[in-house]
Amino acid sequence: MEYTSGHWSLDIYPGNDGTALVHNTAILVGDITLGKNVTIHPYAQLVGVITIGDNTVIGSHCNILGDVIIGANVKTQSNAFIPGGTIIGDNVFIGPSVTILNDKFPPSEGKSWMPVIIKDGATVGGGVTILPGVTVYENASIGGGSVVTKSIPQGSLAYGNPAQIKGMAERA
Ligand SMILES: CC(C)(COP(=O)(O)OP(=O)(O)OC[C@H]1O[C@@H](n2cnc3c(N)ncnc32)[C@H](O)[C@@H]1OP(=O)(O)O)[C@@H](O)C(=O)NCCC(=O)NCCS
Repeated sequence: MEYTSGHWSLDIYPGNDGTALVHNTAILVGDITLGKNVTIHPYAQLVGVITIGDNTVIGSHCNILGDVIIGANVKTQSNAFIPGGTIIGDNVFIGPSVTILNDKFPPSEGKSWMPVIIKDGATVGGGVTILPGVTVYENASIGGGSVVTKSIPQGSLAYGNPAQIKGMAERA
């Protein structure tokens, strides 16, 4: 593919019909499968074996590294860090500068990797850190700036450091 500085390109990636919109400053290396109408914003970096579902938007400067699955209709805002093993469902919101961690005792070269799973409809606020092995269940919501050390049950609202369950999640 040919890139020109500061432009978007519609390229044909495996598994889609050429509708993925990828900024030419984004880096896509490895086995990347993009669904229909995916948008990859400037300076995002996707390196590994990565599958992204239809209509998902990857914000600028996001880093997605290793084996990662991201579902359909997901939004990841700028600077999110999504490491290997992470599985994100459909209709998930990942706020700016979210950090997902996968190695409990780094650097373990894989021995203590514990992937994070974020299930359908969950919302993760800006600046949240999610520790290895946590599952954020369906439609749960994490308040901005939280440190999530334990799995968050379906539909619940949690925030703080460490994040505590404070009630049920609401949508505006
Ligand atoms: C979690 C959230 C939904 C709670 O909203 P809310 O129910 O209206 O809560 P309130 O603002 O009434 O705050 C209630 C209490 O929780 C505290 N609180 C609220 N959000 C908090 C957070 N994220 N972390 C720690 N404490 C928080 C408040 O300080 C307040 O404490 P107090 O009772 O001692 O005064 C909201 O604060 C939030 O974090 N939204 C996500 C924002 C975000 O990251 N957006 C990303 C895209 S821009």
